[in-house]
Amino acid sequence: MSVIRKTIDLKKILRLNKIKRNKIGLVPTMGTLHEGHLSLVNEALENCDEVWVSIFVNPIQFNDPKDFKLYPSDPNSDIKKIHSVSKDINLFIPKSVREIYPANPISEKFDFGILDKVMEGEQRPGHFNGVATVLKKLFEIFEPNHVFFGEKDYQQTLIVSKLIDNLFPKISLMVCPTIRNENGLALSSRNNHLPKKYQKICGVIFESLLLAKENCGKMSYLDLNKTIKTKIEKSNSLKLEYFEVRNEKNLEPFTQINKNIRYRAFICVRAKGIRLIDNLLLT
Ligand code: PAF
Repeated sequence: MSVIRKTIDLKKILRLNKIKRNKIGLVPTMGTLHEGHLSLVNEALENCDEVWVSIFVNPIQFNDPKDFKLYPSDPNSDIKKIHSVSKDINLFIPKSVREIYPANPISEKFDFGILDKVMEGEQRPGHFNGVATVLKKLFEIFEPNHVFFGEKDYQQTLIVSKLIDNLFPKISLMVCPTIRNENGLALSSRNNHLPKKYQKICGVIFESLLLAKENCGKMSYLDLNKTIKTKIEKSNSLKLEYFEVRNEKNLEPFTQINKNIRYRAFICVRAKGIRLIDNLLLT
């Protein structure tokens, strides 16, 4: 397993490996790895000859500087976790922000239509331009054949898909299922900030998505929204930021059941100030 800290060294290795015509898989992450990330890594190992995991907490995708400061980071534990999966995985952990952004870290402006205007895009202005900027850089450096992302960040996967369609048509995007804890809470690095007690309480987020699946088309959208808000906020420590049902292809809002459209429910809940997001295919 190699751990590369400088972009210049990484490019040299990649150039040499290109001669072997290896099928390269890239799993971009911000570290604090959990079983969700490891499932992406396993999928990459199954589908590629050479697997790279990047660990970089990208400053320009945080619209809230406090959130960036608090974002958990533990590279040594990440290296151990990756090592336990396989010794054949390569890690890129940039030594500093300059390895990715040699000049000022500034977002490019992309046109994602409504994909970056609603839900996470609306609540976190500039977030998806920041995500797309860093991914564009990583895709240019690695020139991967496959890239791996989790379904938990479904809106992000639509952004990545659009970025790939527009700029990197040779890359194939693989979206892997959400991994949950025993209470149904989707695994996320942010869960590390939640006391154990809350990790249990937050099982109600996935329960709400299941309730939406059960009742979609039976209850009016308005009633469904009210029921979910009441269910979430029954616990004083949780606050519903949004619950929305949208067309999973283009994020157009739900109007009425149509068997030709796949609708997905999206939810964001604040628990002790931590934003937790999740989603589920309804139809
Ligand atoms: O999902 C994440 O962890 C980040 O948004 C990503 C894709 C690694 C870009 O920084």
